[in-house]
Amino acid sequence: MEGNEGSSVPVVTTKEILSDAFARRYGVAAFNVVNDLTLEAVIAAASEARAPLIVQTSVKTVKSIGLRPLYAMFRAFADPAPIPIALHLDHCPDRAMITACLAQGYNSVLFDGSHLPSVEENKRQTIEVVAEARRHGAHVEGEIEGITGVEDGLGSDVVQDIYSLETAVDFIESTQVDVFAPAIGNAHGVYKAEPVLDVQRVSDIVARVPVPICLHGGTGLTARQFDDLIARGCAKVNISTALKIAFMRAHRDFFELHPDHADPPALLRFVRERVVAMAREHLGMFHCVGKAA
Ligand code: 13P
Repeated sequence: MEGNEGSSVPVVTTKEILSDAFARRYGVAAFNVVNDLTLEAVIAAASEARAPLIVQTSVKTVKSIGLRPLYAMFRAFADPAPIPIALHLDHCPDRAMITACLAQGYNSVLFDGSHLPSVEENKRQTIEVVAEARRHGAHVEGEIEGITGVEDGLGSDVVQDIYSLETAVDFIESTQVDVFAPAIGNAHGVYKAEPVLDVQRVSDIVARVPVPICLHGGTGLTARQFDDLIARGCAKVNISTALKIAFMRAHRDFFELHPDHADPPALLRFVRERVVAMAREHLGMFHCVGKAA
């Protein structure tokens, strides 16, 4: 895989990473990082596994860290890594934020137009976002249904209607999105009940348009569910809640073990190990280990 222009590599385009994964039917983990520690930890786990990686950030994370420092941090950790890595903006309904992230150097964005009054309007705006992304050599993920669940302040717990296969295919073909994220019974956050997944919808879409599919709501799905969905074309697998839980619980566990410890580096090492372990466990389920060798 070749690096972005001007980059000494290994940052490569999202499309390159996902085209290989889609063709060879493995899943690329897209971890939502929240700070420098989690960014470094997922890159370390993927590097150790020789697995291609997508680092993604929510809009909330961009706002909490600031776009420039966040991007600088990404490049500082990603550039020396021995694997291809792309930076992706997760669910973003805000066109100004998309413009800013593309201009800063993000490799791809998810324009979330699922809140718009019609699929036609979503399509119209997604076409504009795709044109804008292309000018930066970047790529676009699109969606027509909101994925159930609230993540970092965006989304809703109300299950949305699912559009027909024809509508999904028309959206993908008209917009030329590079990745498509259909609702298939998946949800962000911790699953409150065993999810009932419409896996056939992934196969039906891929049979009509060979576009890599993004599986949202990866936290809590089983190895068998990942196997099946990746085999059907889910080349991008989003993991956010599992990282947040590992991060938060590690802090709690550290203080339970060392109530009077005043040694921040020891806490950070402890938390990092937990996040690395979480990433390792997920990478092990996506058939991506060794694919960047
Ligand atoms: P989880 O929070 O369920 O892992 O979902 C992540 C996701 O889909 C981010 O868009």
